[in-house]
Amino acid sequence: MKQDQFINLPLFLVLFGPFLVISQNQPFNEDMLGLIVFKAGLEDPKNKLSTWNEDDYSPCNWDGVKCDPSTNRVSSLILDGFSLYGHINRGLMRLQFLQILSLSRNNFTGTIKNDLLTLWNLKVVDLSENNLFGTIPDGFFQQCWSLRVLSFSKNNLTGKIPDSLTSCFSLATLNFSSNQLCGELPYGMWFLRELQSLDLSNNLIKGNIPEGFQNLYDLRELRVGKNLFTGKIPESVGNCLLLKLIDFSDNFLSGKFPESIQRLTSCTFLSLQGNSFTGGIPHWIGELINLEILDLSENRFSGWIPNSIGNLESLSRLNLSRNHITGNLPETMVNCIKLLSLDVSHNHLKGIISSWLFRIGIQSNNSKRNSSSFSSVYYYYGLQVLDLSSNAFFGQIPFGIGGLSSLQTLNLSTNNIYGFIPVSVRELKSLYILDLSHNELNGSIPDEIEGVISLTELRLQRNFLGGRIPVQIAKCSALRSLNLAHNKLNGSIPASIAELTNLQYADLSYNKLSGTLPKELTNLTQLFSFNVSYNHLQGELPVGGIFNKISPSFVSGNPLLCGSVVNHSCPSFHPKPIVLNPNSNCSNSRSSLQNHHHKITLSISVFIAIGAAISIVVGVVAVTVLNIHVRSSMSHSDPPFALSGGEDCSFSPSKDPNCGKRVMFSGDVVDFVDEAHNLNIESEIGGGGFGIVYYVVLRDGSSVAIKKLIVSSLTKSQEDFVREVKKLGEIRHHNLVVIEGYYWTSSSQLIIYEYLSRGNLNKLLHDDHSKIVFTWRQRFKIISGIAKGLAYLHQMNITHYNIKSTNVFIDFNDEPKIGDFGLLNLFPMLDHCVLSSKVQSALGYMAPEFACRTVNITEKCDIYGFGVLVLEVVTGKKPVEYMEDDVVVLCDMVRSSLEDGKIEQCIDEKLLGDFSVEEAMPVIKLGLVCASKVPSSRPDMAEVVNILELIQCSSEGQQEDLQ
Ligand SMILES: *[C@@H]1O[C@H](CO)[C@@H](O)[C@H](O)[C@H]1NC(C)=O
Ligand SMILES: *[C@@H]1O[C@H](CO)[C@@H](O)[C@H](O)[C@H]1NC(C)=O
Ligand SMILES: *[C@@H]1O[C@H](CO)[C@@H](O)[C@H](O)[C@H]1NC(C)=O
Ligand SMILES: *[C@@H]1O[C@H](CO)[C@@H](O)[C@H](O)[C@H]1NC(C)=O
Repeated sequence: MKQDQFINLPLFLVLFGPFLVISQNQPFNEDMLGLIVFKAGLEDPKNKLSTWNEDDYSPCNWDGVKCDPSTNRVSSLILDGFSLYGHINRGLMRLQFLQILSLSRNNFTGTIKNDLLTLWNLKVVDLSENNLFGTIPDGFFQQCWSLRVLSFSKNNLTGKIPDSLTSCFSLATLNFSSNQLCGELPYGMWFLRELQSLDLSNNLIKGNIPEGFQNLYDLRELRVGKNLFTGKIPESVGNCLLLKLIDFSDNFLSGKFPESIQRLTSCTFLSLQGNSFTGGIPHWIGELINLEILDLSENRFSGWIPNSIGNLESLSRLNLSRNHITGNLPETMVNCIKLLSLDVSHNHLKGIISSWLFRIGIQSNNSKRNSSSFSSVYYYYGLQVLDLSSNAFFGQIPFGIGGLSSLQTLNLSTNNIYGFIPVSVRELKSLYILDLSHNELNGSIPDEIEGVISLTELRLQRNFLGGRIPVQIAKCSALRSLNLAHNKLNGSIPASIAELTNLQYADLSYNKLSGTLPKELTNLTQLFSFNVSYNHLQGELPVGGIFNKISPSFVSGNPLLCGSVVNHSCPSFHPKPIVLNPNSNCSNSRSSLQNHHHKITLSISVFIAIGAAISIVVGVVAVTVLNIHVRSSMSHSDPPFALSGGEDCSFSPSKDPNCGKRVMFSGDVVDFVDEAHNLNIESEIGGGGFGIVYYVVLRDGSSVAIKKLIVSSLTKSQEDFVREVKKLGEIRHHNLVVIEGYYWTSSSQLIIYEYLSRGNLNKLLHDDHSKIVFTWRQRFKIISGIAKGLAYLHQMNITHYNIKSTNVFIDFNDEPKIGDFGLLNLFPMLDHCVLSSKVQSALGYMAPEFACRTVNITEKCDIYGFGVLVLEVVTGKKPVEYMEDDVVVLCDMVRSSLEDGKIEQCIDEKLLGDFSVEEAMPVIKLGLVCASKVPSSRPDMAEVVNILELIQCSSEGQQEDLQ
């Protein structure tokens, strides 16, 4: 293609360039050369300039190029939106006959070159919407007498507008908007007598707007909004009699409404918005009969709205909001028959909300219909936005409101409106925002709300509304935001709310709602904020969906609600602390002692630790025996009921032992067979007292950790199993691993946990591959997090029995989460002795009383384990370390260092001394107290949490003192 020849253009130019310049005529005339050089400096990613081929006889047929037929020279170059980028190079300077240069909506960069306008004939220069930067050079405009149109809009130009601009006396359109031009307007700006359109908006121009508008007879459009202008609007602006559009918005202008604007009767758009104008709105405003848009908002206008405003029959948008306007709305406004938007919010208006308001724009239907000769063409006018909020309007909402059927936004909030919400709201089919909040409305929310089918936002908070939340609200299926807070609503929350699938925000707080929270709410996937605090709700908080992450303050103030979020366990849940059976037969099979360490000198505690290990071995043997026993009796014992959602296959385990359902507390019930297949050796990520843990990606893409219970056949009946797991699933705490669901068949039981990909504390502390060195702050956070999690478990009457670093997972915020808790209740058939040894299997964390069969095991054993963990985190050492020819037991080691006064040597050397002694010391001592050999000398977990807080506070206090 021709394209290929073109690629070598730069080389071509180097080789033949001099020749080309010499022979100025065919086929390479000056224009063609200029354009080719121009193109060579550009990137053309969309190949828009592919027709620009140097083999052509003339460039006049190239895309974007036009020639004057009489001279055959290029007169216009229009490359708008060609996606070109690069610099505008001097090739253009050869186009001596160019009149129109338009490069808008590309990506040209670089600065504006001084000599562009030396092309005499240029009439139009449009470089808008590019990435040009830098200042406009001072001499730029010196030769611009032919220029009619100039736009640099939407670039990144800086600096002042050069004074030389005043030489461009032919200029009719000047557009410098949306740059970063600064400084003051050049003196003599208003000598551009031909100017029709001036757009300087959205820059940083400051100072006064100079007088002298009387020269601009022809000005039709004046936009200087969004600058830093100060002072008054010059009265001379009233001499620009053709002005249709006047925009002074968003400046720092002040003074009174300029009188001379009265003469500008052609004006259709007038905005003084966002300045500091004072005084009244002039009565003559009604003389600007062509006004379509009048925006005086965000000023300090005061006084009444003049009656003459009703003369503005063309007005479609009136914004007087955020001023100090007083009095009533003049009834003459009903004559503004084309009004689409009326905003008078945030003023001091008062008076009755009268029914004429709701006729605005409606008369136009009739008048239009009657006067229109095309009766089939039906122009529907009618108010779309009515905002009367934050005034002092009173009275009832007129029934006639239903007539405004084109209304999209109705905001009457923060007034003194009372009475009922009229049932005629059902006619407001186009309404998407209804805000009646902060009034004195009573009665109930009408069932007719169902007619408002477009509604996305319903705000009725802070009224005196009673009665029930209508079930019909479910028909408003577009609803995204619902605020009914601070009313007197009663009855229960209708489950139909769950049909509002777009709901994102709901606030029902401070009402008198009762009953339970509908479970269906959990499948509102968009919902991210749900506040029902301070009602009379009761019963269990649903699990799943929004309730998994709901902030406790959003459910507080409902004394009868229960569930972990409200820190109030539901009545049926009282696990018994497990007690070692002193008569059971669980130790002393010394023959099975085969330790993997060498000949060692045993201290007492090592002896205890090893003693416990013996009982583990015995325990495993016992479990295996029991397993066999139960399996053989299995065929006789059918599970008592089928799982919700499951087929009744679990009644006949012989048919398909894999048949089962995954039940997630978030509400999903899924056939599980495929996923269960993934429980193989590759996906194994850990083990534990109760089974093997696998990493599984569920069908919905989420990752979970699944624990396959190893002594499955010793577990409870399905019914009990499901009940216990559900209870565990309700235990939610920041520092506990979440149980997300379960899976049951007669042959296998799985528990589905939240997956914490960063892994457990043991790995992170001791695994050389982990490369993580926790700072002291992180370690302290981990310790106090574990303490909080454990304290919460104890508060829920659950003893963990197996606190150790492999059961503590760390998330990416360094927040610890304790896992593997509460499983004992699933195994009622195990002998307690076997159990305790099986569970508390970790050497070194085991409280001494485990070995001592005459002592009851209480939650104090967790505190021992916690103490060891504390020492482990502080020292970075394992609870028991095997050396060449010795065994080091962490507790003993730390304890003796303390006695020798060398405690600082115990602290993890990986911290390189970067820790606070004020914290580390008491933390170590706390760890040692927790790991006391005598259970009764160990503190409660709640105390531990308090102590840790004290340690942190006092060391912070000291640091502050130092500063
Ligand atoms: C301009 O360039 C920027 C990056 O340099 C790119 O993101 C943008 O899409 C370009 N715009 C056009 C209109 O090509
Ligand atoms: C100025 O240029 C910008 C960008 O092309 C455009 O949006 C704006 O309407 C122009 N101003 C006038 C008054 O035409
Ligand atoms: C515009 O210029 C300013 C200052 O020169 C620079 O900080 C900013 O990044 C530029 N913006 C764009 C969109 O190029
Ligand atoms: C919502 O949940 C209910 C039960 O909690 C269920 O019957 C219904 O199918 C769910 N709806 C959707 C759309 O998931």
